[in-house]
Amino acid sequence: MNFYVAPLEGITGYIFRNIFNECFGTGVNKYYTPFLALCSKKGVTDKEKNEISPENNKNYKLVPQVMTVCVEDFVKAKEKLRSLGYDEININFGCPARTVTSRGRGSGALRDLEKLDSFLDGIYKDGDENISIKTRIGVESPDEFGKVMDIYNKYPIKELTIHPRTMREVYKGIPHRDVFIEALSTAKMPVCYNGDINSVEEYIELCNLIKEHSTNNISGVMIGRGILKDPALIRKIAGGENTSFNAEDIKKYGASNEEVRIMLCKLQNEYTNKFSGQMPVLYKLKEIWAYLGQGLYVEHRKLFKKIMKCKSLEEYETYMNEILSQ
Ligand SMILES: Cc1cc2nc3c(=O)[nH]c(=O)nc-3n(C[C@H](O)[C@H](O)[C@H](O)COP(=O)(O)O)c2cc1C
Repeated sequence: MNFYVAPLEGITGYIFRNIFNECFGTGVNKYYTPFLALCSKKGVTDKEKNEISPENNKNYKLVPQVMTVCVEDFVKAKEKLRSLGYDEININFGCPARTVTSRGRGSGALRDLEKLDSFLDGIYKDGDENISIKTRIGVESPDEFGKVMDIYNKYPIKELTIHPRTMREVYKGIPHRDVFIEALSTAKMPVCYNGDINSVEEYIELCNLIKEHSTNNISGVMIGRGILKDPALIRKIAGGENTSFNAEDIKKYGASNEEVRIMLCKLQNEYTNKFSGQMPVLYKLKEIWAYLGQGLYVEHRKLFKKIMKCKSLEEYETYMNEILSQ
């Protein structure tokens, strides 16, 4: 199986990707950038330049993700990315944020299927087979996805990553895995699953469900929040696959506190070099802890709360060391 680290805007930027890959990259086949415009009125922003600069993304395979529904803008972005050496380019039809969807982008693109079709017609017209898509299953209802799939199936999509929730559901409720399985059975392109895989058990459950209900297999699994809750999740799943998920073996692939400490310290150093003042650094670290506190360190509620409330890096380091030395 292929394992991909999902794009998480504000979290999985190039600093995070480099450090995560160094510390927990075993088993990861690809990383995706958080969505980029690459064609705003201002041109390519400095933040975007840093995100896609080959210098900043040396030791792993990176797929830049673009969010647009304008063919010309996409072509401009594609030319820029290809000139930097990127083959695969991913399009975002998944983002549920209102600022994006109100302008028909992200999962808002699924609202007007005629427009979606004409956009895809424009970008695949030259036979480009290196464009992949990340999508939700509809705007209001999961029933919309059949029609969306009919459109996707017309184009040579390199890989279709499906997050089986609607735009309205944002991240609430349980992903519609039945809709995913149905789409997998009718898909003419490789299909990757994404959504709520937070443990080895959930991955096994997904594989069993697919085996039971579809003759097609998935091309990959994309994991986002799960690798923040447990940074070694992909290493455990990928390692587990080689040992038939023997519990003892999986334990060996788990994250030690020391590994987590190293990752967090490297992030702290890099963010300290990048930002001025402690507060933005603290904010970034708390963002990671917000997930670790629901995952690996869920048992340490009191210390976790203290981390989330602390006002200086000194205070943060005290509580972090306390959690990680237990
Ligand atoms: C904070 C945050 C930022 C996200 N940013 C992006 C993004 O830039 N592009 C994208 O396609 N999806 C984005 N997503 C969606 C994730 O890539 C993923 O589809 C979603 O979290 C479900 O997968 P998971 O349950 O494995 O996290 C974001 C999600 C979160 C929570």
